Amino acid sequence: MHRRGVLTGAAALSVLPMTACADAPYGQIPPLKFLAPYPLGVATTARRMADPTWAELATTQFSRLTAEWEMKMEYILQPDGSLKFDRADALMAFAAQNRMDVHGHTLIWYAQDGAHFQALAGNPNAFLNAYAAYISDVMGRYKGRIRGWDVVNEPIWDDGRGLRDCLWRKVLGDDYIGLAFEAAHRTDPSAILFLNDYNLEFTPKKRTTFLKLCERLLKDGAPLHGIGTQTHIAADLQPGLITQALRDIASLGLIVHVSELDISVHGDLTANIAEPRLKQARLLEELLTAYGDIPATQRYGVTLWALRDSDSWLNTPQGGQHLLPDEPVLFDRQGRPKPLAHIFAKSVTL
Ligand code: XIL
Repeated sequence: MHRRGVLTGAAALSVLPMTACADAPYGQIPPLKFLAPYPLGVATTARRMADPTWAELATTQFSRLTAEWEMKMEYILQPDGSLKFDRADALMAFAAQNRMDVHGHTLIWYAQDGAHFQALAGNPNAFLNAYAAYISDVMGRYKGRIRGWDVVNEPIWDDGRGLRDCLWRKVLGDDYIGLAFEAAHRTDPSAILFLNDYNLEFTPKKRTTFLKLCERLLKDGAPLHGIGTQTHIAADLQPGLITQALRDIASLGLIVHVSELDISVHGDLTANIAEPRLKQARLLEELLTAYGDIPATQRYGVTLWALRDSDSWLNTPQGGQHLLPDEPVLFDRQGRPKPLAHIFAKSVTL
């Protein structure tokens, strides 16, 4: 058993600085990557890696990198079908230099297809060839150097009613998912292959549909090895949902990745900010406890979806920016560990 000595969220917070004032005593934390009994990842872009402050903090605290955008089709695939790997290569070089692991994100996503595939939509055979070729070209370039890939990202509708519509499904049918996994496995048989989605805790119906899909894929013999649960959550998430979700997800026996963790306080930086911060801390503690309870062989790791609050997509227009800045991750804009990082340090230790 573990975490017996860990303070509960409320108690821990009472001994930690809760103010965001610039002169607050933030304290030091030991490198989180040495505390966690599983890999700890952080998402990034090439621009951030070039910032020495970012690089120092990220390499001290984390053992794995995920490309936030630059390994996605939207960046790699050009309209003429050629592939652009400059930034993915830069991330791989940075990781190798700093002895970090890399998680590949992502090969097939409903949200991104591109002119190249749109032009082939009327010709299913050519489309399928291009589909398999894209997967094998991108994965093959980093064969043996990327431990795991999100092969298909976000396949289920938000309300959990089934598979989303997308170009892939329109042309290849429901089997577009199985076909992607087969192409990925052929390319790099040693890579851990994930199906990744969000709101698996917030929307239990979506989780049920997602897990049914996983079971069907496994039954059909697809090389599905892992489940990524993104865990983009908000501080007002009902307690208990994360624990239930991780239990259900782990019950399939596959490897589990908490793949894109951030906990929004909704940007409501009102006088009452202490309350969402407290809820945020409790959710983080719940998540790490529940993840720690999964058998060690199933734990691929936990990935934060930004290093500092100022790096988070939630503080950009795409993330649905609120009027005031959000504070979803562990380090503040100056790179100082926030109270949430102290909670992480305590809760992650078995
Ligand atoms: C987001 C990135 O954070 C943004 O910078 C990018 O522009 C859009 O995508 N689910 C995913 C991630 O799987 O790839 C998304 O990342 C966040 C939601």
